[in-house]
Amino acid sequence: MTEVTVTDSLAESLPVDAVVIGVAQGPKGPIPTPDATAFEGPSAELLGTLGMTGAAGEAVKVPAPTGIEARLVLAVGLGEADADGGHDAEALRRAAGVAARTLAGATKAVLALPAATADAVEAVALGGLLGAYAFTVYRTTGEDKPPVGELSILTRHGDAAAALRRATVIGQELNRARDLINTPANDLHPESFAATVRAVGAEFGLAVDVLDETALDEHGFGGILGVGQGSVNPPRLVRIAHTHPRARTSIALVGKGITYDSGGISLKPVGFNEIMKRDMSGAAAVFAAVTAAARLGLPIEVTGWLALAENMPSGSAVRPGDVLRMYGGRTVEVRNTDAEGRLVLADALVRAAEERPDAVVDVATLTGAMRMGLGNRLFGVMSPDDAFRERIVDAAGRTGEPAWPMPLPAQLREGLDSPVADIANQGERMGGGLVAGLFLKEFVPAGTRWAHLDIAGPAFHEGAPYGYTPQGGTGTAVRTLVRLAEELADARS
Ligand code: BES
Ligand code: MN
Ligand code: ZN
Repeated sequence: MTEVTVTDSLAESLPVDAVVIGVAQGPKGPIPTPDATAFEGPSAELLGTLGMTGAAGEAVKVPAPTGIEARLVLAVGLGEADADGGHDAEALRRAAGVAARTLAGATKAVLALPAATADAVEAVALGGLLGAYAFTVYRTTGEDKPPVGELSILTRHGDAAAALRRATVIGQELNRARDLINTPANDLHPESFAATVRAVGAEFGLAVDVLDETALDEHGFGGILGVGQGSVNPPRLVRIAHTHPRARTSIALVGKGITYDSGGISLKPVGFNEIMKRDMSGAAAVFAAVTAAARLGLPIEVTGWLALAENMPSGSAVRPGDVLRMYGGRTVEVRNTDAEGRLVLADALVRAAEERPDAVVDVATLTGAMRMGLGNRLFGVMSPDDAFRERIVDAAGRTGEPAWPMPLPAQLREGLDSPVADIANQGERMGGGLVAGLFLKEFVPAGTRWAHLDIAGPAFHEGAPYGYTPQGGTGTAVRTLVRLAEELADARS
């Protein structure tokens, strides 16, 4: 894995393969940023001649000037400067990400991007770590260059250690979530996912409890068992908890962990089923966020609940029309076995709320409808508590994970009425993402502060890499959850 360090002098970090500089997009052409002039870098004229404008996403290589022990200078676009002449954290993260991707195969580079503050150092470090990510465990051809070995951030900010630490922890845990999402469903089952959580939990001192199918049955987790009963790979409910002696607030994070969603008996057609290894992205994000909270020592209790199952059709699978008895006793008519996420989440939400946390947030690749509505770059945030919803949308935007508030319109609830059970798992088609949110709401006790994040769109990136986002699992929601935990900790401690 790429190592990220800081340095206050270019001379001391030489020799390197490359020195990375930032280039702003000015009205008349590219503007190399002043902080980069620890050496005689390329002129605006030269960069313009090479076709650079300074737009975000650009990367132009030029030979390093004589006198410094670097082979090349990599100029990356920062986009237009803000009103105050600076570049926001997301611009820095993306520029560092582009640099890290472009430098795959190199041993060491210095990032001489504008990083004068601790926040800027953190942004550059995180963008670099996330941009350097590569998922190559299944490649045998050796065609992929290894990620850049070391990125050294040039900064005169004297106290960058905490910023570097935060970026490193979040970057490593987010990349672990990406690995889980990218792992194909023939190699990631509920049991092996739970084993990974156990191992990582032991490494960082988290408490991990795993309910296997026998324990789930004993306690009546009918939703998780119902979804998992068609698969030869039995379901699991994992609890992973971070505690802190000074914690005065607690938050429960609940993740949808369908290691493969075939749709079950309501089988998905070709074109929809081959992308469904990603359906555990919510559980991966929760796992990463709790682990990061522990490694950062946040003074708040953070408990993750991973509802893990494989949704498969078979002779033992749940059928459309079956009625499941959920954890806590309520009954659900399964109208569509492909609306499985809300079934596993319902069990986990009831269980999580039993511990009376101050807030509950669930994260799920829940509906195609949310993808239709918001596209592939934003996730939807629903909550009966307007202030809590806005707070999450706000935290998400600031961490570079854009989100949008979505409503829970009461009139859509009656579509979920069932003639035989307390509720059905499928309602009106129109507004399907909101209907799913209304279903979940039924399993959150009144008075519990709760929000639902539908990450079906941004959980997985299918196109060419951009900024620090590779193709494949993105790890979306990890940064939002960590930020939320930090904010709730600050509010009370
Ligand atoms: N996992 C899917 C939602 C999904 C679709 C996630 C595309 C990521 C990309 C979910 O389990 C599902 O199948 N939802 C159904 C619900 C419907 C049957 C009520 C949907 O959205 O069509
Ligand atoms: Mn489904
Ligand atoms: Zn699903």
